Amino acid sequence: AEIHYHEFVIEATPVKRLCKTHERVTVNGQFPGPTLEVRDGDSLVITAINKAIYNVTLHWHGIRQLRNPWADGPEYITQCPIRPGMSYTYRFTIQDQEGTLWWHAHSKWLRATVYGAIIIYPKLGSPYPFPMPKKEIPILLGEWWNRNPMDVLKLATFTGAGPNLSDAYTINGQPGDLYICSNNETMRFQVESGETILLRIINSALNQELFFGVANHNMTVVAVDAAYTKPFTTNVIKIGPGQTTNVLLTANQPPAQYYMAAHAYNSASAPFDNTTTTAILEYNCTTKRNSSKPIFPQLPGFNDTATATAFTAQLRSPSKVDVPVYIDDNLFITVGLGLISCSNPNSPRCQGPNGTRFAASMNNVSFVFPTSNSLMQAYYQGQPGVFTTDFPPVPPIQFDYTGNVSRGLWQPVKGTKLYKLKFGSKVQVVFQDTSIVSVEDHPMHIHGYQFYVVGSGFGNFNPRTDPAKFNLINPPVRNTIGSNPGGWVAIRFVADNPGIWLVHCHIDAHLTWGLAMAFLVENGVGELQTVQPPPLDLPQC
Ligand code: C2O
Repeated sequence: AEIHYHEFVIEATPVKRLCKTHERVTVNGQFPGPTLEVRDGDSLVITAINKAIYNVTLHWHGIRQLRNPWADGPEYITQCPIRPGMSYTYRFTIQDQEGTLWWHAHSKWLRATVYGAIIIYPKLGSPYPFPMPKKEIPILLGEWWNRNPMDVLKLATFTGAGPNLSDAYTINGQPGDLYICSNNETMRFQVESGETILLRIINSALNQELFFGVANHNMTVVAVDAAYTKPFTTNVIKIGPGQTTNVLLTANQPPAQYYMAAHAYNSASAPFDNTTTTAILEYNCTTKRNSSKPIFPQLPGFNDTATATAFTAQLRSPSKVDVPVYIDDNLFITVGLGLISCSNPNSPRCQGPNGTRFAASMNNVSFVFPTSNSLMQAYYQGQPGVFTTDFPPVPPIQFDYTGNVSRGLWQPVKGTKLYKLKFGSKVQVVFQDTSIVSVEDHPMHIHGYQFYVVGSGFGNFNPRTDPAKFNLINPPVRNTIGSNPGGWVAIRFVADNPGIWLVHCHIDAHLTWGLAMAFLVENGVGELQTVQPPPLDLPQC
């Protein structure tokens, strides 16, 4: 195994998109940021140097960080932010993971421009479980704002209304030639007729689930979230923020130029940007820019929940996996939006629907990030008053979650509430979407863990009949899974990684409104079940 050393300089850089140049925070002047290429078993030592005007932290999305929460990165959860002018070195090892993950800033909305791919190859000498592709191409789907995303967030936080939509979707940072002033920079990828390539697709968009496809080409899905899957063929991919999908694509069409494209999938009535980002797949280096337009893929409509759900439902692990059968901690957690009433509905701070403020919650608790210390450090030092461990394992009241619910029934309460798990506990979580403001597919991410997705459905989860239909044989392994719009998803895992681990919706607008909680996984017995001591350069609040 190797050790890879990197320096990530975080600083404002001029970035030209959609006809104008803006200062944006980037890593090493690159947007998207550098790609990390490692093998399973390798270690990374990454020194983050903050030369920006904002606090920042970096998160290695999907890396398990066994007994090492100090390198996980979410601001005020496992570390205090790296202040301007300061630095922090993230040290971690890849343990039994292969595929595609990614890294991103985990501080306010900086991840809009601070993100990059993590490619984990098998150990030296181990092959892929599929024929070796001729080329590998990371495809980072993202969103671009003409306005500084940090200001977009600030405005939304002040008014309590929904944040401004982005101005473009992007592929590897580029909007593509359907947008103004973007033609020359459109990403172009060359293939030779007959060869098979691997696309490592990452949804790094802040707030948008996406459909992705390549004109006239099928894709064979071989991995999601750094875990292999039983291969299946599709012409469209649905991918939520935080998720990754590896596909094989064979250049078996007449030599020409073909668009790859992504646009919004959004089941909700909530507004979305209905533009499309493009890149071009070029056969045999025939870059005839004046030839006929590339062929365009057919993507499903933004409200095509059936296609989105059918895609996810096909995912399986390649063979039998070790799913916990008996459950120690059984949690049923509502995830969804809510509105907080204001005493003065005309206040500039209450510009949400009907003079309210948007909020979001899990079991009606709207998560509040601490500011005096990180949760992990407070826990490690035994400092009281930073969090409580009374996160409710079931909703405080029961109702028809996906029915026609009155908003008054469900006003979120604020708190920094954690749920305590004993080391080794076998956990089941059912995430239940609610219809209180809108039905949405919330991409739920758990830090420090991978989990089995054992079941999902529409409407209200039925604890008597639904578990009988769970897949306990070969469910897929993921780190981020959609709740299903107006439905539910059930996951299982063993709490074998001690520490404090954030659980949240990977749509940043919802995270900002409080759609989060955290697990406190206690130490087990002996050194191998105990959180390591913090590094000496851990930032302090
Ligand atoms: Cu990809 Cu908490 O994040």
